[in-house]
Amino acid sequence: MEPQAPAEVQMSQKIQPAHANACGELSAGQLLKWIDTVACLAAEKHAGVSCVTASVDDIQFEEIVRVGQVITIKAKVTRSFSTSMEISIRVRVQDTSTGIERLVSLAFSTFVAKPVGDEKVRLKPVPLLTEQDHVEHNLALERRKVRLQHEKTFNNLMKESSKLDDGHCDEDERAVSTGGTAVQSIELVLPPHANHHGNTFGGQIMAWMEEVATISASRLCGKHPLLKSVDMFKFRGPSTVGDRLVFNAIVNNTFQNCVEVGVRVEAFNCREWSEGQGRHINSAFLIYNVIDDKKELVIFPKIKPMSKEDFRRYRGAIARRRIRLGRKYVTSYKEEISLCVHWDLSNQVSISNENVEALKNLAAKTGWELTSAVDKIKIYTLEEYNVLSVWVEKHVEKSALHAYDILSDFKRRPSWDTHCVSCKVITSVNENDQIYYITCPVMNGDKPKDLVVLVSRREPLTNENTYIVAVKSVLLPTVPPYLEYTRSEIICSGFLIHATDSNSCTVSYFNQISSSILPYFAGNIGGWSKSIEETAASCIRFLESI
Ligand code: COA
Ligand code: ADP
Repeated sequence: MEPQAPAEVQMSQKIQPAHANACGELSAGQLLKWIDTVACLAAEKHAGVSCVTASVDDIQFEEIVRVGQVITIKAKVTRSFSTSMEISIRVRVQDTSTGIERLVSLAFSTFVAKPVGDEKVRLKPVPLLTEQDHVEHNLALERRKVRLQHEKTFNNLMKESSKLDDGHCDEDERAVSTGGTAVQSIELVLPPHANHHGNTFGGQIMAWMEEVATISASRLCGKHPLLKSVDMFKFRGPSTVGDRLVFNAIVNNTFQNCVEVGVRVEAFNCREWSEGQGRHINSAFLIYNVIDDKKELVIFPKIKPMSKEDFRRYRGAIARRRIRLGRKYVTSYKEEISLCVHWDLSNQVSISNENVEALKNLAAKTGWELTSAVDKIKIYTLEEYNVLSVWVEKHVEKSALHAYDILSDFKRRPSWDTHCVSCKVITSVNENDQIYYITCPVMNGDKPKDLVVLVSRREPLTNENTYIVAVKSVLLPTVPPYLEYTRSEIICSGFLIHATDSNSCTVSYFNQISSSILPYFAGNIGGWSKSIEETAASCIRFLESI
């Protein structure tokens, strides 16, 4: 018998005015409904019994879909666990006049098999036929860990953030309060909103949530907001036909050019309604952008929390943003176009100068946001389009020259950085520019990674006081990729060392994160690992001990 392919379901829709908002764009609520329906049908195809949505991971919306265009939604079971399974959902849009297809969204949801009655179903494994099926199957386990740890991670980050500088939100005079963005709305669940068992469709609830959240966001920006992403959320308990659903939404926080709106949903049956005691069935957090007339992203005003509750939600939004950033980069595998330059003898001066300039430019960017601060270590992140960069600032009780001598000698790096197994010089270009071959340890059961990097160091000029150690990957024909390693890439990284006095300095480490380096950072940014803090602390100890 032919091996069966993993359960897959496909839906195509031509976008009609009834699916669109006032601007002629497909409403995100409608899309969420379709996504949930197709995912449910894939889950039930695999399970052979009815299934309910347990949770939906972060969804990002990459493209605006307009009336007249055609979208195709493909859902596939990537892995089954015990009673639950993960479904990947890929949404593409096609412009029928040009035939060009673009990715609108890639989402992952978890469905639980729920046959009628109390019986528990043990799901059969998903058949793995292609290389891609195997990759997704392995990633599904990683995603499940992150998903199930979500609440714990969030609570840890909240605890940690209560130690952060409490005053940093009320310094800006232009900061606004969110009182005017509160929205309340009610819906009665009717048969068309439910599945064949009378349970409200998860997608329908998401669509209603999106409607109230959009109203809330538009009250802050006074313009038409665009839904950029929805944070991971879970369906805490079922709702059925006849329930009244009460939605409450408000803006929690803003980050440069996006705003987070939270929505809480409570369900009431007839008795609960008269007693005023509902069931909390869902909370979701939606992120919006606004585009101005010049098609540029609007920068939002900062938020001024007025009450203790406002402040708790304000901090909650910061913690969720951190988790979202980390998770965004572990949930899917992205092919990356190499930006490595060929090391060329005739061009070596300009390559190493560009290396130094790129690091200076990264450090000079605006919009860095503080994501964690522990003892002498502060971590900032900067997200520009799909590029994430980190900046780790540490205070060291030794002179800047001492730190520079040690940090620019990459042979010493394995002594303090556990992400580095070995570092050796392969070409010594001159006293200040060296090319190193670096090997890294195994992560997540993958092959170990290796790198070929140019390290360019510069002492300060007479009127400056910053030492620079810039790092970027280069291609060398003498060091081709090896089978046992995955060749990784550093786009722009390094240290800026700034003397605070003759015996102490600030060491700032920067890294513009490429996808191959990301596994080393994502968990940390997302809050489920402490590897950056540990490496930074180890670096400080090493510098101060010798
Ligand atoms: N994300 C992903 N999976 C989750 C989850 C979450 N937030 N919470 C629980 N699960 C998984 C568990 O890992 C377990 O999977 P496994 O058996 O493969 O290991 C499975 O769900 C059952 O977990 P269990 O702890 O036994 O059940 P529960 O009491 O937490 O119930 C639901 C989980 C989803 C069944 C329950 O919360 C529910 O009925 N929610 C409402 C679902 C619904 O009606 N959705 C439509 C919209 S109203
Ligand atoms: P939390 O308050 O911890 O964020 P909840 O699940 O209670 O968690 O609420 C989720 C989100 O819903 C809140 O962050 C907020 O944005 C919004 N919300 C909750 N209650 C209200 C309310 N009474 N009015 C307006 N918005 C609310």
